[in-house]
Amino acid sequence: MSHEMLVREIGSSGVQASAIGLGTWAIGGWMWGGTDEMKSIAAIQSSIDEGISLIDTAPAYGQGVAEEIVGKAIKGRRDKVILATKCGLVWHTARGNHFFDYDGRPVHRYLGPESIRYEIEQSLKRLGTDHIDHYITHWQDQTTPIAETMDALETLKVEGKIRSIGASNVSTGDLEAYVAAGGLDAIQEEYSMVKRDIEATLLPIAAQHDVSTLSYSSLALGLLSGKIGPDRTFEGDDQRKDNPRFSRMNREKVARFMKEIAGVAEEQRATPAQIVIAWTIQQPVITFALCGARNPQQATENARAGRIRMSKTEIHTISEAATRHLTDLDA
Ligand SMILES: NC(=O)c1ccc[n+]([C@@H]2O[C@H](COP(=O)([O-])OP(=O)(O)OC[C@H]3O[C@@H](n4cnc5c(N)ncnc54)[C@H](OP(=O)(O)O)[C@@H]3O)[C@@H](O)[C@H]2O)c1
Repeated sequence: MSHEMLVREIGSSGVQASAIGLGTWAIGGWMWGGTDEMKSIAAIQSSIDEGISLIDTAPAYGQGVAEEIVGKAIKGRRDKVILATKCGLVWHTARGNHFFDYDGRPVHRYLGPESIRYEIEQSLKRLGTDHIDHYITHWQDQTTPIAETMDALETLKVEGKIRSIGASNVSTGDLEAYVAAGGLDAIQEEYSMVKRDIEATLLPIAAQHDVSTLSYSSLALGLLSGKIGPDRTFEGDDQRKDNPRFSRMNREKVARFMKEIAGVAEEQRATPAQIVIAWTIQQPVITFALCGARNPQQATENARAGRIRMSKTEIHTISEAATRHLTDLDA
């Protein structure tokens, strides 16, 4: 694990960031059974200390909570961070389409230009900064043409408020429309050893147009951390409580997979989570892997995976074991 932290460019923006990014959805608490601010700040700062520059957040993560915690954690360290945040899940207007309720209040998918302008100012305030390095449409809005949304984002870029543009949770049609409108640097999509469908849909299109891919839930919401034993339970609003992905049978499949890759892990002096993350960023089409972490131990462990370089043979061994043990876990 003696290599340098792997660093890559976001699309053709000129913005360089660590190939592993710290995700802050759980740090926002919502859908993760709450958050601990002190531990979260320590997790973010440990990531930066370990060479992680990419930090991904969103207004929707606890309706401002995650962004505020990130803002506190990066005070005095802004220059070390490539900050990614999002727009398009809104609760200040009822435009667009209703998506879900948060504490009984409606949240809409909306990417109208005036709303993006409102949202970025809120994010900049919460994050305590004057620019966002990577600004992403969080979910897609069927009521606003993508060209109009892109126009608003390009204007923010000209003004220096954002440095690169991303889109998340896109269909192939959305991706093509973003590319046609020009200036898309990256997509952000769910991808891990247990969920690989974008390999056949979005990834070939992204590769063809030099659009980077950020994988999210790269540890399958923690299932692939190597630490979800048979007795682990989930509390409060933690989304994993009723998620069939976390069934006893799936936990056993993951345990069998981990046993099989133990040889590679030992060779690399790495933990199972680190092997999973290193495998992800060594997939040809994945540029960045976002991994959540709630405390300094998790943050440090995940960050160090960015220093692993596996051989083709090792990657092949892992891919083969993943195909055998981890296919159809969500079926
Ligand atoms: N664009 C989108 O729509 C979207 C959607 C989802 C996620 N994302 C982004 O992608 C990021 C990563 O995805 P994710 O947070 O959903 O899932 P993830 O990275 O697969 O899992 C994160 C969770 O796994 C556990 N974990 C992580 N590292 C661990 C370690 N080393 N040891 C033990 N447990 C560990 C932690 O939970 P416990 O400690 O509670 O087990 C952590 O909160 C998000 O934070 C967010 O920034 C974006």
